Formats: sequence, C-alpha cells, structure tokens
Amino acid sequence: MTISGKTRVCAIIGDPVQHSLSPVIHNAAFNEVGLNLVYVAFNVGVTELKDAILGAKTLGIHGLNITMPHKHSVMNYLDKINMTAKNIGAVNTILNKNGILIGYNTDGAGAMLALKENGICTEEKKLVLLGAGGAAKAIAYQAAQEVEELVILNRTVEKAKQLAKILHSFNAKVIGKMLSNNVLYKELTTANILVNATSVGMYPDNNNSPVPSDLLTSDLCVMDIIYNPLNTKLLNDAKYAGAKTVSGVDMLIYQGAVAFEIWTKCTAPVEVMKKAALNELINRV
Ligand SMILES: NC(=O)c1ccc[n+]([C@@H]2O[C@H](COP(=O)([O-])OP(=O)(O)OC[C@H]3O[C@@H](n4cnc5c(N)ncnc54)[C@H](OP(=O)(O)O)[C@@H]3O)[C@@H](O)[C@H]2O)c1
Repeated sequence: MTISGKTRVCAIIGDPVQHSLSPVIHNAAFNEVGLNLVYVAFNVGVTELKDAILGAKTLGIHGLNITMPHKHSVMNYLDKINMTAKNIGAVNTILNKNGILIGYNTDGAGAMLALKENGICTEEKKLVLLGAGGAAKAIAYQAAQEVEELVILNRTVEKAKQLAKILHSFNAKVIGKMLSNNVLYKELTTANILVNATSVGMYPDNNNSPVPSDLLTSDLCVMDIIYNPLNTKLLNDAKYAGAKTVSGVDMLIYQGAVAFEIWTKCTAPVEVMKKAALNELINRV
C-alpha cells in the first residue's frame, strides 16, 4: 500500500504493546480489501492515557484498539460507549465517527464467533467458563445470551459468583463456583463446551493446564483463549482425549474482525487475517 495524504490511521494503545499481533492482522486486512488505512502501535503509560485519547481525537485517528492496562480507564475519555461495553465495564475498540469517540467491546463476540466458525453450535448447550477476569467477563456476557447453561469457575470464587449475579437477567441459567478439581469433575460430566479464560498455561507457564487431563473427553469442545503458546497444554490434552479444539488465535482474529467491520463497514477478510497472525507467531518462535 502507498501511504498518501489521504491515508487514515488506526492504532493499538497499551503498555506494553510491542508484541501485539494487531498491526500485522489489521494491515493484512486493509491491504486485502484495498483500503487506504494503516495500523500502528503506540506504547502509552497509565498517566498518559487521557492525553493520548484526546490527541488521537485531535489528529483524526480513525480507529483504536485498547489493550492492557487501559480497557477500563479509557471509558472516562470517550463521548459514547455502546451497551455491551458498558455492561462489561471495558472497551477494546474505539471508532472516531466525525470527531465523536465511540467505545465498543468485541472480545465476547469474538470468542463466541470463534466457536461458531469452527462448527460448534452454542444454542441449548452447557458452557463451562474458567476465569472471571477481564476476558472471561466479556465472554460471559455474550455466552449468557446464547447458551442454555453457563457455569463460571474461578480461583477467587467471589468474582465468579458476582459475575453470575450480574448476568441473572439473561436467558441462560448462570452459576458461579470455585475452580477446583472436584467441581470440574462434576460440571464437565454434563458440559458441551469448555472455555479457558484464565491465564493458566500462558507462556512461560506452558506445562500447566487448569484442567486435569483425565477429565477431558471426546464429548467436549474445548477452546483455550490463550494464544501464546499456540497449542497450550489444555488444547494438547483435549486433542489427545479426542475433543474438538479451538485455539486462542481464533478468538483474537474474530474480535479483530468485529473491530475491522466497525471501522470500515466492510466484511473482514478473516482467512487473510488468520494467515498473517499465524505467520507472525511461527516466525517469532
Ligand atoms: N485470544 C484473545 O483474543 C484473548 C483476549 C484477551 C485475553 N486473552 C488471554 O486470556 C487470559 C486472561 O486474560 P485477562 O485479561 O482476562 O486477565 P485477568 O483479567 O488478569 O484474569 C486472569 C484470570 O486468570 C485466573 N488465574 C490466574 N492465575 C491463576 C491460577 N494460578 N490458577 C487459577 N486461576 C488463575 C484469575 O483468577 P483470580 O480471579 O482468582 O485471580 C482470573 O480469573 C490471558 O492469558 C490473555 O492473554 C486472550
């Protein structure tokens, strides 16, 4: 792509941000669709966030992704926040619509799309979600609108119970419990889908899994939202047990695809985005 006076800018803001895959994914998508857009990364510390967002608005930055540690605090500097992001209490995508900054959260939609695009039906299913942190909360909001039963398991049980309580108005039966091997044994026996949204198994913790391997069966569909490593111990154990598996890269791609569509109103070239992400991850090893 040739950068010209008409090129518009999208960016990711976070701290640290150098290892983000988003520039590679979105630049590949912009090129594929032939859009005069470029995507860069800005390392912005906590005390610089307000100036960075006001600066982005002044400069007419077209779209932003927001990552750790700013997903919650950025909400203070936006003109509008869509209902999903408000409910989740976190924004990961911003659209600059003629000088009005609008916040969205695409993590939950991305996770559920990743399941569906891998042929995993979520309707009338029981989903066991591990974790009650930022990513788990976004997934829980979306899942509670789609599945029949949602069981949230977390090391700090109060967070799981609190999250379940907030979701009581959705269609699904939602409960929060302690993440323990006994509870896993009981809940996984009747579950269809297992999603790990804890950081257990993430680099450099590669040899750990939040679920004992003997609790995994071929009846389960297992998604690990961790994408570093690409094949976590949980996913390897699940494959060995004969379960269908979905990697964290798929959630990353689909949350990015939803953001792409918010910014461009074009259909996201998902396969191109995925290929770019996988190439980058493989080259980094
Ligand atoms: N694929 C994607 O697009 C995508 C998007 C976002 C995040 N992620 C990944 O998802 C993971 C979670 O991210 P996050 O932003 O939600 O982090 P977070 O807000 O810090 O939440 C971390 C979660 O992991 C749990 N946890 C941490 N260490 C644990 C341990 N030793 N045993 C049991 N539970 C433990 C925490 O439980 P407590 O509440 O008890 O501390 C909490 O539920 C990270 O690996 C991140 O890279 C992937």
